[in-house]
Amino acid sequence: MNILLTGGAGYIGSHTAVELAKAGYNVIIADNFCNSSPKVIKRLEEITGKSFALYNIDVADKNALRRVFKENQIDAAIHFAGYKSVGESVKVPLCYYRNNIDTTLSLLEVMEEFGCRKLVFSSSATVYGTKAPVPYKEDMETGNCANPYGWTKLFIERIITDYSAANSDFSAVILRYFNPVGAHESGLIGEDPRDIPNNLMPYISKVAVGELEKLSIFGSDYPTKDGTGVRDYIHVTDLAKGHVCALEYAEKHAGTEVFNLGTGKGISVLEMLRAYEKACGNKIPHEFVPRREGDLAEYYADSSKAERVLGWKTELSVEDMCRDAWNWQKNNPKGYEE
Ligand code: NAD
Ligand code: UFG
Repeated sequence: MNILLTGGAGYIGSHTAVELAKAGYNVIIADNFCNSSPKVIKRLEEITGKSFALYNIDVADKNALRRVFKENQIDAAIHFAGYKSVGESVKVPLCYYRNNIDTTLSLLEVMEEFGCRKLVFSSSATVYGTKAPVPYKEDMETGNCANPYGWTKLFIERIITDYSAANSDFSAVILRYFNPVGAHESGLIGEDPRDIPNNLMPYISKVAVGELEKLSIFGSDYPTKDGTGVRDYIHVTDLAKGHVCALEYAEKHAGTEVFNLGTGKGISVLEMLRAYEKACGNKIPHEFVPRREGDLAEYYADSSKAERVLGWKTELSVEDMCRDAWNWQKNNPKGYEE
């Protein structure tokens, strides 16, 4: 089967490409490299021993997308392409609405033209908003998103749900990711942020490798186990495997189904820091600073639905996440641009 990965050169897309290739799927990647490097393709081929068709296109460009569908019989699409920086989305909301929603509409329209009836979409735990009680469950109310990025995800969920309601042969699986971290065990692919990282794990990695001076821990007075923020960190390889299960599910079921992909466990910033120090064998300089605006104290997934319905559950630990993040960082201190 031929699977199109929009944004397949990015962090989660590239790890998913590996797991799909391992499971016997043929992977076609469409990416404009606005937040990734074409060098990832060679690495994917090195890891899997397989080749990957690559289209350097803007996924919002329908004519460009049509070429992909004309040249390949696409059986299903996984839609990763989009902008993902929370802070940036507050500064340039129109860019976020334009790119995230246009890529989705173009993809759905071209899928319709070519009779492609299966879609998996990368959503986020952020759609549960700022008021939901933990753990988050798929049937909870969504909304109250804290930023435009979160709203783009919620609007796209709506678009996909409405489209599949109007087309009874269409299958959509919406995956709400929690906090993906870590890297492929080979150390050949991993997260490669362009600027100073906003997220905890890549920031810790850059401090560990000596590129940044120290980690700022945002808040030490949250009502959590040790006062620091708590999240549900999931190894990117576990997350990638969730997409293989989602595709198998979409092959058999029409309609829209939503799944949380998380471990179900909350880990604090300090716990993550200590685990990373163990993995890299060094102390990581850090300081406590005031809370970051917009951050929640604590959230994690109820991931029992994915386990029950998809037969998927996470296998990798926080130690594995830190070991693999460090392995990627130390082997590629400048990411893909050595
Ligand atoms: P990423 O930035 O590494 O990957 C996204 C890819 O999409 C990049 O390769 C980028 O070049 C490409 N892209 C963006 N706009 C495009 C366009 N118009 N045309 C073609 N390619 C385009 O991000 P990621 O971490 O791999 O995230 C993948 C998806 O998962 C995103 O939709 C993101 O919002 C979502 N998500 C990520 C996280 C996370 O913490 N990483 C959490 C929840 C959801
Ligand atoms: N943190 C620090 N210092 C840092 C960075 C983060 O203390 O330098 C703390 C945060 O305050 C938070 C935790 O580490 O308590 C995790 O923060 P991240 O920025 O790594 O992740 P978030 O939970 O804020 O957001 C992530 C993604 C969003 C997504 C959201 C929900 O970045 O895209 O998870 O899935 F929407």
